[in-house]
Amino acid sequence: MLAGGSGTRLRPITHTSAKQLVPVANKPVLFYGLEAIRDAGVTDVGIIVGETAAEIETAVGDGSALGITVTYIHQDAPLGLAHAVLIARDFLGDDPFVMYLGDNLIIGGITDLVEEFRATTPDALILLTRVPNPSSFGVAELGPDGHVVRLVEKPREPRSDLALVGVYLFGSAVHEAVRSIKPSARGELEITEAIQWLVDSGHDVEPHLVTGYWKDTGRLDDMLETNRHLLESLEPAVHGTVDEHSSIVGRVVIEEGASLVRSTVRGPAIIGRNTTLVDTYVGPFTSIYHSCTIEGTEIEYSIVLERATIRDIGRIEDSLIGRDAEVIPSSALPKAHRLMLGDHSRVSVATS
Ligand code: G1P
Repeated sequence: MLAGGSGTRLRPITHTSAKQLVPVANKPVLFYGLEAIRDAGVTDVGIIVGETAAEIETAVGDGSALGITVTYIHQDAPLGLAHAVLIARDFLGDDPFVMYLGDNLIIGGITDLVEEFRATTPDALILLTRVPNPSSFGVAELGPDGHVVRLVEKPREPRSDLALVGVYLFGSAVHEAVRSIKPSARGELEITEAIQWLVDSGHDVEPHLVTGYWKDTGRLDDMLETNRHLLESLEPAVHGTVDEHSSIVGRVVIEEGASLVRSTVRGPAIIGRNTTLVDTYVGPFTSIYHSCTIEGTEIEYSIVLERATIRDIGRIEDSLIGRDAEVIPSSALPKAHRLMLGDHSRVSVATS
């Protein structure tokens, strides 16, 4: 499980915290991946950690709460996905393994893929999906017989629309591959090149087309979209308190200690532990995390992280609001706000 990297595309949120720990539908992205691995029967998990090691270790601990056993492997600098395999050599030994990028989310898990890998034992099983913007990913070109011919990392002129999904299954041959390649132009040992090395040296690299929902949550839009998707299958439950002037409509989870005062929550939405809503409307596809205070505000299609305060701000949409952020009124009030606020931000929004 790769949980290093610097999360540049989610700054400023990731200036102070790990991108893999940003919650979607009130659960850190990383946990969906760890659960998917566990559900596929893989319980011995090495987590590659970088600058944000302490935070990841605090969140995941020894893994027992998730039913896995975790070994932390430190990567001194983000030197690439193949570099992560290189430094995990002792942990992995010659065992076949799943490599999972901690900011990727595959709805429906990876159990079928792991079973397919176990049954067919190729040297690598790679996951591909059709995307409208292949230049942002590793891209695979398949031959007429459906075999992998070429893999290129973030090509300017992609030869197909098949992107590499951030989940890979490998046999032990990959160790020689990662030792054989050289750093790319961006200074990283690319897993894409290691897989190309396997193809070129006659190893068996099997493609698997993913048709279900997959997202790399590295950018704000993708994160909000993933949040929407996860909220759609929420099991409604009310564990907090809802006063007689409040109402809940549709798929809504109100976590323990949360309280609604003269507020409406229209699902799908989740209101986190010890969060208070007063004179507030929470619209569809919104996740409010733990210990937030929202008053006199309408908020929709957004994610709010722990302990944020939002007061008398009119309407907020399409926003990710960081931990301890404070959004309070000042003068003229625009009808909608589109914000990406970093942890501990303080923003005074103009009111009329
Ligand atoms: C990485 C891989 C890329 C893959 C992508 C999937 O890119 O290098 O091949 O398509 O993950 O999320 P990164 O997100 O590190 O830029």
